[in-house]
Amino acid sequence: MVDHHVADLALAGKGKLRIEWAEMRMPVLRLIRARFEREKPLAGAKLAACLHVTTETANLMRTLVAGGAEVRLCASNPLSTQDDVAASLVADFGIPTFAVCGEDRDTYYSHIQSALAFGPTLTMDDGADVVSTLHKEGGARLEGIVAGTEETTTGVIRLRAMERDGALRYPIIAVNDADTKHLFDNRYGTGQSSIDGILRATNILLAGQTVVICGYGMCGRGCARRAQGMGAHVVVCEVDPLRGLEAVMDGYRVMPIAEAAKIGDVFITVTGCCSVVRREHFSTMKDGAIVCNSGHFDVELEVAALREMASSSREIRQFVTEYTLDNGRRVNVIGEGRLVNLAAAEGHPASVMDMSFANQALCAEYALKNSTSLQNRVYSVPREIDEDIARLKLEAMGVEIDRLTPEQQRYLSSWEEGT
Ligand code: ADE
Repeated sequence: MVDHHVADLALAGKGKLRIEWAEMRMPVLRLIRARFEREKPLAGAKLAACLHVTTETANLMRTLVAGGAEVRLCASNPLSTQDDVAASLVADFGIPTFAVCGEDRDTYYSHIQSALAFGPTLTMDDGADVVSTLHKEGGARLEGIVAGTEETTTGVIRLRAMERDGALRYPIIAVNDADTKHLFDNRYGTGQSSIDGILRATNILLAGQTVVICGYGMCGRGCARRAQGMGAHVVVCEVDPLRGLEAVMDGYRVMPIAEAAKIGDVFITVTGCCSVVRREHFSTMKDGAIVCNSGHFDVELEVAALREMASSSREIRQFVTEYTLDNGRRVNVIGEGRLVNLAAAEGHPASVMDMSFANQALCAEYALKNSTSLQNRVYSVPREIDEDIARLKLEAMGVEIDRLTPEQQRYLSSWEEGT
């Protein structure tokens, strides 16, 4: 048995079936896996991956192994691990995996250390915890890395800050910034799976409820659209004037969180920033308000303040903690303020992760091939990779699009033709 720390290897059978279910819905990744099997473009690479341990991630790991990489995997969030998937990765696919759902902070970081134990040459992050750990440690392990990839907005923000400070010591490809990633995964994936997490955890009827979305980036847009589609009245809170304006013209009410706090039935934070819903907001919420977060880190809701304010608390349903405040009102928090879509549901569906993880696999290949010419910077995904993935996804969906005629090509590349 390969090196591992998972909750229960007896869950492997269930995990394998779920991994196969996801595989069916990941046609682009399947094509890449078939090519990787023939060409072995990752031969010799040692890849440490820190990702949510889900059925979709399992299929990415299989793809990287098919490409010839030696892979070790740990969780990128203490609450998002699907224990049956972790078991199957070890027992059925022989991939060293270090992830237990509900692990504490020390275990979380010890799992990162286990994933790094073989001296990786490539890293794959979702939130930049591996890059940050390696940079804090310094030394030979950091020197051995040729490149890395980053999955999420929050991670890319951290990495760009490192680049600006001259602190980044190896090149990173920002997978999040590919159009085939953030336009789909962040918008449709987060939109659907966050609502899914809220509904699984609470079984509430969204129709007629006031849903407050804090943050109108791609994830916020997705949540707003899906909530509206189910009949909710959507309120958006923003700090960016352009995004606030867009939300107004997309048809939503826009107001500061201090006002929204008084009228919301459900709150979803997706800002990537800290302390978005604070003590003063909890204290004005309606009795029974439901609060959750879909941003990467659990810093958007001040849950610690809520704990202090509460005269009592109890787990009223699985994943839901009810806090009773001194004013007698009850505020419910889903998944301890961690990613609601992964804590209370299964994360983004496979068909959207297909594109995100196709980007991860192709960017790992690209980074390895080009490692000597890349500098210690954060790079965008090459446009050809993005377009290839979109083309393959359309093909897999059986959708055809038009081609420019020679006349149209001439028109678009000339500057003489006007009125
Ligand atoms: N992030 C959001 N959803 C995910 C999923 N299903 N697998 C891995 N990472 C995710």
